[in-house]
Amino acid sequence: MAQGRARSTAAAACMLAAAVAAGPGAAAGLPDIPTPYLASTHVAVDEMLRLAEVRAEDLVVDLGSGDGRVVIAAARDWGARGLGIEIDPALVEESRANARRAGVAERVEFRHGDVLTADLRAGTVVTMYLLTPLVERLKPRLLAELRPGTRIVAHDYGFSDWKADRRVTISKTYYLYVVPAQVAGRWQLTATLPGGEGEYELRLEQRYQEIRGGAHLSGGFLPAFEARLSGDRIQFVLVTGQTSHRFEGQVRGAAMEGVVRSGTGPQLVASRWRATRIVSGAEEG
Ligand SMILES: C[S@@+](CC[C@H](N)C(=O)[O-])C[C@H]1O[C@@H](n2cnc3c(N)ncnc32)[C@H](O)[C@@H]1O
Repeated sequence: MAQGRARSTAAAACMLAAAVAAGPGAAAGLPDIPTPYLASTHVAVDEMLRLAEVRAEDLVVDLGSGDGRVVIAAARDWGARGLGIEIDPALVEESRANARRAGVAERVEFRHGDVLTADLRAGTVVTMYLLTPLVERLKPRLLAELRPGTRIVAHDYGFSDWKADRRVTISKTYYLYVVPAQVAGRWQLTATLPGGEGEYELRLEQRYQEIRGGAHLSGGFLPAFEARLSGDRIQFVLVTGQTSHRFEGQVRGAAMEGVVRSGTGPQLVASRWRATRIVSGAEEG
């Protein structure tokens, strides 16, 4: 058994090493080979959890949790709760025993299952060390089901077309993605700007966390400068005449609201703004 595990671990190491050497782009063209078991090093576990900035209130979900080391470290070293999902039942048993030995069995759970069908919605941090075909198949579900602001950390294999919010290389490479709120579409924006109109139609295009667009008003268009989206936090700048208006706010489903600061120094005026969705990006096609 131990010899069998050692042999299969060596084979897994070769397979993962070959895919890493080929790079994520090349791996995307590989056939849909299953992700084998290869444990992250302890340095890799530390760096993944550090990149995610794990806090005590987090639920860290490791997709393909192997012997449980990521989930156990999240509980033991960062005070979080953890959930591991693993397709190999022997590894699930091993993880539970490891959690008991580490004294964190109360705060972690290991489920036998397939990450493609498991319920991941409670996770506030998701970690994964999976081959690209599985990472790509997971992406639509992660984007649709995880709450905006959830941090995803991928070890070695990131998403092919989703630009990482941060990328760190320390022995291995880790990619951080913050799940963005869905803001693409048309919004009715209400804001009282000094010298500006009160009602605008805000139109936004979105590619993951990258957004662009502007505000349409009777007879004009104001581009949204420095438009940024991080989780459910949105910001952009509109300019009317000689004044810039800095919008910052929070997206909550079909509404967003926050504070707009116009001007600077003694001329600075802050007021509330609010927008409600008229048409979503999906509806617009
Ligand atoms: C490279 S190992 C990583 C283990 C652990 N996450 C770590 O970082 O040490 C990948 C793990 O994913 C598991 N796995 C592969 N496909 C899976 C699937 N569809 N659902 C659940 N687990 C899967 C494998 O059995 C293996 O334990």
